[in-house]
Amino acid sequence: MSETNNASQPLKILLLAAEVVPFVKTGGLADVTGSLPPAVRALGHDIRVAMPRYGRIDPRRFNLTLLPETFVVPMDNRMEPGQLRESRLAHDVPIYFVENARYFDREGLYMYPDDAERFIFFCRGALEGVRQLGWQPDVIHCHDWQTALVPNWLKTIYARDPFFARTASVYTIHSLAFRGIFGRRVLEIAGIAEYEFTASPDGARDGQVVDFMARGITYADVINTVSPTYAREILTPEFGEKLDGLLRQRQDRLFGILNGLDVEAYNPATDPHIARHYTAETLEQRAENKAALQRYAGLEVTPDAPLLGAISRLTDDKGFDLIQASLEPMLQHLPIQFVLMGTGEERYHRLFLGLAQRYPGRVAVFLTFNTPLARRIYAGTDIFLMPSRFEPCGLGQMIAMRYGSVPLVRAVGGLVDTVHDYNPATQTGTGFLFRAYDAWAFYAAVVRAVETYRYADVWRKLQQRGMQQDFSWQASARAYVDLYRLACALRTQAETMAPHTP
Ligand code: GLC
Repeated sequence: MSETNNASQPLKILLLAAEVVPFVKTGGLADVTGSLPPAVRALGHDIRVAMPRYGRIDPRRFNLTLLPETFVVPMDNRMEPGQLRESRLAHDVPIYFVENARYFDREGLYMYPDDAERFIFFCRGALEGVRQLGWQPDVIHCHDWQTALVPNWLKTIYARDPFFARTASVYTIHSLAFRGIFGRRVLEIAGIAEYEFTASPDGARDGQVVDFMARGITYADVINTVSPTYAREILTPEFGEKLDGLLRQRQDRLFGILNGLDVEAYNPATDPHIARHYTAETLEQRAENKAALQRYAGLEVTPDAPLLGAISRLTDDKGFDLIQASLEPMLQHLPIQFVLMGTGEERYHRLFLGLAQRYPGRVAVFLTFNTPLARRIYAGTDIFLMPSRFEPCGLGQMIAMRYGSVPLVRAVGGLVDTVHDYNPATQTGTGFLFRAYDAWAFYAAVVRAVETYRYADVWRKLQQRGMQQDFSWQASARAYVDLYRLACALRTQAETMAPHTP
């Protein structure tokens, strides 16, 4: 048994991600990569994080120290220099920022024509950077397509490198919707053109493209997604985005670990952004937050109208076609109010602005994203909508429950694993679920919720059950450590089984 398989030995883990809270965030990925490492560190492991130093991350504001070590990354026939800056996450977790003006001194994070090259540089820079520091990870934990070539490298260009030869990889899929598909040329930049070509399993694309996500799945020692249900769903054509066949082949390496929530940051008893603090025991004080939100949003200030809310990217993936089909009939037939925050497809911007005009005092729309307002929506709404088409984990429903806003969600992915349907007969459950992806099923769930809202003590207990759920990272961090150990064991096993060719 190797050292890293001994359950008492602390592990060295390098976590690679394109975004990390509090530095940059475009989605739930950043919440996970910002709060999992401190939780793993609390279990006694030496976990360190690396991400790109984007132009918008101000080194002074975040106290980033430039490290003296420099490195070069071979990018096809060029050598590209890089350097690391260092800062700390909670629990003193080191975070390294891979610095290179050519790739990262830009306004945005993604959607540049050379994205493949940028993230190849970031990942390889992180590996070369920790080599310069003499810090040798047992496991590299990769997240989503931007980091998905690392498992591929560990089995090719780094397989005989004494520094990384024993490093295992874990690949976490946060969403199959973002794949990283590029032309074959990127293999030269990544230094792996001479190795076996693995065609994209996506037949529609002729297989002649490089699919980062598929490579992560193919080469990682262990793969996981962010909820047990999504881990099962992606084995089917409905959710597999054409990778279900490949995922089925690797099913024995595929796991589902539910994301946790940063329960210190999201806490209605201490949240600095909300009008009045409260707990499950002092829920009556929550009413002030509803009134404050109604005032701020220009809604009629009344406790009686059930206030529905959503905070989301405005896309079909998140179920906005269902909301589009049913919101107006709901406004006509039910005494509801609706508040929305988020940005997305232009047609949804127009739709919601139109509704806000036609239903003054009942519909409020904020086409933006800002944290203080998000917190006020969680603290002030009665019902929180997430009718997603698919949802690998979802964070909003967990935050909503913690703040006493009752989630109304589609029964998919992490939503099923975190929200339990209210059952009036047994007085159990923490929210409202609907199954079919269909405007009527959604509408029916809203009717059920609005009907239940009329019974104040039933509703209060429903809120309290949600607020008492344990969504902290502890259990999930332990599950990740088990996964890291499994990856190390499988890596060692593969090593001893591999034929020793010169
Ligand atoms: C992606 C998924 C979301 C998940 C998040 C963090 O954004 O769409 O469901 O919660 O990643 O894992």
